[in-house]
Formats: sequence, C-alpha cells, structure tokens
Amino acid sequence: MSKPSDNFYNKFSVFYPLVDVFLKPQKQRLFQEINNCPFENLLEIGVGNGAHLSFYKTHKITGIDTSLAMIEIARKKQNANVELMQMDGENLLFPDCYFDYVVLSHVITVVDNSEKVLEETYRVLKPNGKVFILNHFTPKNWLRHIDKSFNGVSKIFHFKSVFYIDSIKAIKKFTLLKEIEFGKFSYFKLLIFCKS
Ligand SMILES: C[S@@+](CC[C@H](N)C(=O)[O-])C[C@H]1O[C@@H](n2cnc3c(N)ncnc32)[C@H](O)[C@@H]1O
Repeated sequence: MSKPSDNFYNKFSVFYPLVDVFLKPQKQRLFQEINNCPFENLLEIGVGNGAHLSFYKTHKITGIDTSLAMIEIARKKQNANVELMQMDGENLLFPDCYFDYVVLSHVITVVDNSEKVLEETYRVLKPNGKVFILNHFTPKNWLRHIDKSFNGVSKIFHFKSVFYIDSIKAIKKFTLLKEIEFGKFSYFKLLIFCKS
C-alpha cells in the first residue's frame, strides 16, 4: 500500500502548515462553496494534516490519506463529525454511490495516477454528487513554459507541475458546474463538477 510520495509526505508533514499560509485565500473560497451546499456525506481524498477539518460546517466528513504521519497529525484536529483512515485514493474501499461530495484539494497532481483517482471519485459519488478540485492548472498561454521548466524539479517534491485536466479521460464523465479562478494569471482554480 506504500506509495512513493508517502516517504516524502511523512517527512514533510510538520512543514506543511507553511504551505497552507500561501494557499489560505483559495481554501477559504473552497469552504465557502462547500458550506453553501446542503450538509451531507463528504469524502476528502488526501486530507493531509487535517487543516481543513475545522472549516467544514456540519457535513459528515471522511478523510483519507496514504501518509500515516499526515493522518496522525490530522487525528489531533478530529471531531465527532470526522472519520480518518489511511487509504489510497486510487483504490477506495467504499461502496458505489456512497458520498454526496468529494474534495480533491492540491491532490490531483500529487497522486501517481490521476486517472484512477477520478475513476474512483466517480464511482463513490452518488448521482448528482459534486467533486471539488482545487489545484494549479497549466495554462494554455506562454505560462505553460514555466510549468514545463519546473517539471524535473517538481518530481523531487512529488507533484506534477505540468497538468492539463483535459488529459484525464474520466473527467469527461462529469459536468462542469463552476470554474473559479484565483490570482492574476488564473493559475490556481477551483473546479466544481457534478456526476451526471
Ligand atoms: C499537497 S498535500 C494536500 C493536503 C490537503 N489536501 C491540502 O489541500 O492542503 C497532498 C496529500 O495527498 C496525499 N496523497 C498522495 N497520494 C495519495 C493517494 N494515492 N491517496 C490518498 N492520498 C494521497 C499525500 O500524502 C498528502 O498528504
């Protein structure tokens, strides 16, 4: 079950709050969108250190991550609405049509196989369920060259700097409901899709 990224995230878990400072504004928007939805059954894949847990209102939260160190930190922020498990997003141990929402926050470019994670997301979502994908997306303009130049370095940090959502076949099974762009160059986006 051990993944190549686990070793990195197990070691990096104590420093992750520093990254979170930078990501705060986009995450506030993520929680606003999620908390505007009826409070239901939500799965966060790659829940990390659990920094999000206190921001979800009364949704019933299941958080999974492959890194045990991340899960152990997240457990300190656990409350009665939250269940945490060490599990691989590429092979979810939940039945079909189980969740109303799935959150993929800065995870889709970290997992080894984004295609499998989206296939699994589709499977565990109920019909009309929503997936919230917060991430960087390689732009089609000149900025794509920056992502390409970072591609080698990004592997050391276990993420893909070049990422086109259209390259994932499973995304075509979903309907795009909303696209929220952040920053001057719209490099970070929150995409909200529905299982149609
Ligand atoms: C960049 S962190 C993002 C954490 C959090 N979602 C956030 O937005 O701050 C990526 C997380 O995904 C986890 N991860 C990597 N591959 C995974 C997989 N196949 N299944 C579940 N979690 C995974 C890592 O261990 C890490 O905690």
